[in-house]
Amino acid sequence: MWSNAQDSALQERARAVIPNGMWGHQSVALMPESTPQFFTRAQGTRLWDADGNEYLDFMCAYGPNLLGYQQPEVQAAILRQMELGDTMTGPGPVAVELAEALTGMITHADWAIFCKSGAEATSMALVTARAHRGRRKILLAKGAYHGAHPWNTPRPAGTLPEDRAHLIYFDYNDLDSFADAVKQAGDDFAGVFASPFRHDTFTDQTLPDAEYAAGVRRICDEHDALLIVDEVRAGFRLSRDLSWAEIGVDPDLSCWGKVLGNGQPISCLLGNDKARKAAGSIFVTGSFWFSAVPMAAALETLRLIRETDYLERIREIGTMFRQRLVQQAAEYGFGLRHTGPVTMPMVLFEDDPDYRFGYRFSDTAMRHGAWLSPYHNMFINAAMTPGDIERALEITAIAFDDIRRNRASVQPSAKIAALLPR
Ligand SMILES: Cc1ncc(COP(=O)(O)O)c(C=O)c1O
Repeated sequence: MWSNAQDSALQERARAVIPNGMWGHQSVALMPESTPQFFTRAQGTRLWDADGNEYLDFMCAYGPNLLGYQQPEVQAAILRQMELGDTMTGPGPVAVELAEALTGMITHADWAIFCKSGAEATSMALVTARAHRGRRKILLAKGAYHGAHPWNTPRPAGTLPEDRAHLIYFDYNDLDSFADAVKQAGDDFAGVFASPFRHDTFTDQTLPDAEYAAGVRRICDEHDALLIVDEVRAGFRLSRDLSWAEIGVDPDLSCWGKVLGNGQPISCLLGNDKARKAAGSIFVTGSFWFSAVPMAAALETLRLIRETDYLERIREIGTMFRQRLVQQAAEYGFGLRHTGPVTMPMVLFEDDPDYRFGYRFSDTAMRHGAWLSPYHNMFINAAMTPGDIERALEITAIAFDDIRRNRASVQPSAKIAALLPR
């Protein structure tokens, strides 16, 4: 019988020693009320919480788990490097090998700088774009998340209007809106973050039009401004190259994180020769940016990305999940919008403006062993098998049936209602 008694006790202790009990998107504040906060173990496709409940995990650590938790070859590379040294007075040879591997795989990239988080990579991109021609204005798609640094945090407490003073927003996938923003920037246009696709929370996902992507590239070239693609969330789930390589558009800079070390803390900024001088002029570092273990994990992850059929498998599994879940929803009398790339599914109920069905659905699924999100895109990993999807569908059948039977009495969560975007 599912229980969250241990987790509740931990949450109570956490509230005494951690503000709000947990920070950032690792907090389960936006999840259904009883969602566990703490995990003790992860293996392959599975997670175990502090009460010992096992979950088939569709969040994949919010992305990093690409090949399966504790993937054996990556794990072996981690252990080998740990024996030799991790954080040392400078980087290991693995830093060069990793930069060579990435520049060999990512068409637009001629160089790499490694860091620890996606936000560090995006902030480095912002500074590099400004350093390129000494200009200030950075263009961003409205609502796009690029990390929790002051210029982009979704909760601006403690930040200043000045932190965003030189940011200009445009509508994603809308070339006219982008051109207007460029006009506003005038001769101070430094660069643009053009997200690989629109993957905002609580909303359907939008893939980029090739025309939009090509238009952004052309306008950046006309102004000698840098085009940045923030691949932190989508990296290697859409392509073995940068996702926009699939639509024939190369950026000047790209930001990577999450999957890079299959869960080890490593991220990077990649760039082309045009941006090399600017990247060499900025001062960026961190005490752990040289750590060799995450780099060794990343080198092995990249080898597996190049040499295995992981991408074809996650596409196949993601397609199966999408088709069967939408069909199952219809069988239970629900419309389901399943948007975004199949490897990063976003699942929202039709006619569910306050998300009450989505939240009830995820809550029931969680209590029966499938970890789904009612508001955030999910992730498919390469350890998932058709058998795992069958298991997930057994669980989602219970969740659909529960809502069908209790349709009239399902209530929106008061906590969530207060937090929802208006
Ligand atoms: C598109 C995108 N950019 C940047 C970030 C920030 O990455 P991190 O949480 O590693 O700082 C995220 C994190 O979710 C992201 O989705």
